[in-house]
Amino acid sequence: MTADTDRVLFFDTTLRDGEQALPASLSAKEKLQIALALERLGVDIIEAGFPVSSPGDFASVKTIAQSLRTAIPCGLARALPADIEACSDALKSASRFRIHTFIATSDIHVNAKLRKSQQQVVEMAVAAVKHARRYTDDVEFSCEDAGRTHIDYLCRMVEAAINAGASTVNIPDTVGYTTPTEFAGIIESLFNRVPNIDNAVISVHCHNDLGLAVANSLAAVEKGARQVECTINGIGERAGNCALEEIAMILKTRQSHLNLECNIRSTEISRTSKLVSQLCNMPVQANKAIVGANAFSHSSGIHQDGVLKAQNTYEIMTPESVGINKNLLNLTSRSGRHVIKHRLTELGYQSTDYDLDTIYQAFLQLADKKGQVYDYDLEALLFFDQQKHEQ
Ligand code: KIV
Ligand code: ZN
Repeated sequence: MTADTDRVLFFDTTLRDGEQALPASLSAKEKLQIALALERLGVDIIEAGFPVSSPGDFASVKTIAQSLRTAIPCGLARALPADIEACSDALKSASRFRIHTFIATSDIHVNAKLRKSQQQVVEMAVAAVKHARRYTDDVEFSCEDAGRTHIDYLCRMVEAAINAGASTVNIPDTVGYTTPTEFAGIIESLFNRVPNIDNAVISVHCHNDLGLAVANSLAAVEKGARQVECTINGIGERAGNCALEEIAMILKTRQSHLNLECNIRSTEISRTSKLVSQLCNMPVQANKAIVGANAFSHSSGIHQDGVLKAQNTYEIMTPESVGINKNLLNLTSRSGRHVIKHRLTELGYQSTDYDLDTIYQAFLQLADKKGQVYDYDLEALLFFDQQKHEQ
């Protein structure tokens, strides 16, 4: 798959990098449910699993590959013949599929983990890409721990992988170590120094150990990367991966600044997030960007008054744009008269049904005692007020 110069491809790895970090694995049925939701969301490539890792993973990659219609199914393989064969076997029923093969390139990994020379690692990478190309022309190669790889060696590896036939080359910040400026510099150097770079899509895969996965992915995209690897709700190894919903909404919300498109249907974001959270048993923190329970809720009276006058005073995107019905105005002691009147109108009361000043004073007393005031509390205040007048 090639990328337009102004379109960023979304490669989702919720079912591989995300799933491998869960305390309990998902069933084949649950994985299929997630894959279909990702397809509905508009994900371009779905990494369905790591077929050689277990018979269960092989079977679920196979089922997902048979079930997808528009998204491209993908499987992970180390740079080893058995992994690539397993990947191809699991995916081959699909009309198009991607084999994603990888090997580590940083000194730490090459010396301590692989215990090979740099030349041997290049040879393994080239052999793996060529092997995968026997089964599909959609081959992705990843330089694991690229973020900590010497740039000269990274350039050499990327050039060799593209020459061997990789159509996508992925630059992972496997341990979430780089800063946005550094990571942008790596991508920029690759574009400046690798002679055949235009023959492949440059992808990025950022982990969140320092909370920079999304920022690093964005920095890379601004330097020309045209595929981002991400997961729903940012689930993944350790502190997780780049959160799909965040990078997608950055591209959409700042479209006029970034001038980049993507195929994500943002109105599917909320329900996909909920599905993944429920099936993976991974709650989403309330203040999480885009999909947290508080992402579209306003508590301060000044903010509430502002959004009631013009939504964009305190909302840079609408809740509807991510598939949430409407924003929430939390009724607390910081809320003003305006929002109380607004909520009572929403609940079906006319302004002639109550005296706003009286209800507001009663509301403040209650809010000071209990914090958040709910609709049923407001209705009770109205009821008691009416009873007083009837006595
Ligand atoms: O984090 C990583 O480097 C990976 C690779 C397999 C792409 O997940
Ligand atoms: Zn990863």
